[in-house]
Amino acid sequence: MMRVLVRGGVLVSPEGTVRADALIEDGVVSCVEDRIGPARADSVVDADGMLILPGGVDPHVHMGYPFAETVSCDDFASGSRAAVAGGTTTIVDFALPAPEGGLREAVAARLGEASRGSRADFALHCIVRRVSDAILQEVAGLVAGGVSSFKVFTTYDEQRLRLDPGDLVPLFGAVAKAGGLITVHAEEPSIVSRATQGLAARQLVGSANHPVARPPLAESAMVALVIELAGATGCPVYFHHISTARAVDLIAQAKASGQAVYGETCPHYLVLDGTLYEADEPADYAVTPPLRTKDDQERLWQGLRDGTVDTVGTDHCPFQRGQKRRSAADLRGVPNGLPGVETRLALIYSSGVVEGRLDVGRWVEVCCRRPAELFGLAPDKGVIRVGSDADLVLFDPQGFTRLEVSAQQSNCDWSPYEGMEVRGRVVMTIRRGEQVWHDGVFPSTGAGQFVPRRAEQRYRTGALFG
Ligand code: URP
Ligand code: ZN
Repeated sequence: MMRVLVRGGVLVSPEGTVRADALIEDGVVSCVEDRIGPARADSVVDADGMLILPGGVDPHVHMGYPFAETVSCDDFASGSRAAVAGGTTTIVDFALPAPEGGLREAVAARLGEASRGSRADFALHCIVRRVSDAILQEVAGLVAGGVSSFKVFTTYDEQRLRLDPGDLVPLFGAVAKAGGLITVHAEEPSIVSRATQGLAARQLVGSANHPVARPPLAESAMVALVIELAGATGCPVYFHHISTARAVDLIAQAKASGQAVYGETCPHYLVLDGTLYEADEPADYAVTPPLRTKDDQERLWQGLRDGTVDTVGTDHCPFQRGQKRRSAADLRGVPNGLPGVETRLALIYSSGVVEGRLDVGRWVEVCCRRPAELFGLAPDKGVIRVGSDADLVLFDPQGFTRLEVSAQQSNCDWSPYEGMEVRGRVVMTIRRGEQVWHDGVFPSTGAGQFVPRRAEQRYRTGALFG
């Protein structure tokens, strides 16, 4: 049994900061006290001057995701290297069934891929792309097996992913009954298709018009409708990649009325804005929903502060320049998505904590604990307490991270943040007690594990930590 002492750091949790040592035994936190003697350990990690965070939990990544006749350029191997280098020890990816396929077979296949490649621990959401009696009957079994959230797309006809409200109602009912959670990519499809057809009729389909094709109303109209359907069916619902101020307002209203509605935004909506579509190479920034305005950013930050927006997930779905630009002249063929998993913790620390938009506890809450709670991963993940998995990050708050492609672990050959220097640096990442990242190298290259998730509602309410 290996005992590792992490000594001299400042532990950060949503409740605040505390100077404390942590002892790890066999991959689990066995003791947290203000001083732990080195005699109790086989080895000591000096964390003097460091913040010690729970390993990051990224609730939204797409490794090797098929889109627009290509595949996102990080597979589980490279994407999870990027994750641990950026301080994320658990990723939640997706099982994508074949258009006519079942859910269980998709989950089994995806588990196989992740188990062979991921250095981060991993969990899965299951995408539902058609609704039938047979599909509905699979839901409870998947929840019982630890795949307790089901993602729906309300757009992407061309990828054969879109579900209509008439499909969502029975699915929401089945997921609610099984104690699961629905997650949604929310865009109203006819607004998107009408806007896109209008651009095509005027020969304006260059990538600079990506945000015109997917206007803010498409998101907010669908958020409103899904909230209504979720309320009627008693189903908890989580909105991925919220980008607009209006959607934040709608989520706030639903929460205020007592509905189980949760929101995620992504670093790119907080840090980048739609003026990038006016610059060179707008296809590079094609992400769905599109980058928005500074006013939207302010509302998203406010929502993160006040709890309306629960998490920062990354929607990590990178494509290389060649993949992005091949169809830059016609936005309908551009694969949408941006990298994010490697830069999330440092970006949100720098733009959020250092710039006074978030306190340090809320940073850890939105990047670590809240995603773990909502997706049934806590208390093994997302917290540092006796009995939790020893997933720890040593973060130097005085350090700097230069965001540049030459330093990144991802397979992506560009960065939307190229040249940006942010405050804070992930010095060491420990996953289940193993050092998987230390100052630019991977001391251990051991495999991550599948984390089956709990479905009980109390893990979503914070009651666990009350
Ligand atoms: O542009 C995005 N977000 N790509 C990833 C797939 C999706 O839409 O969630
Ligand atoms: Zn999406």
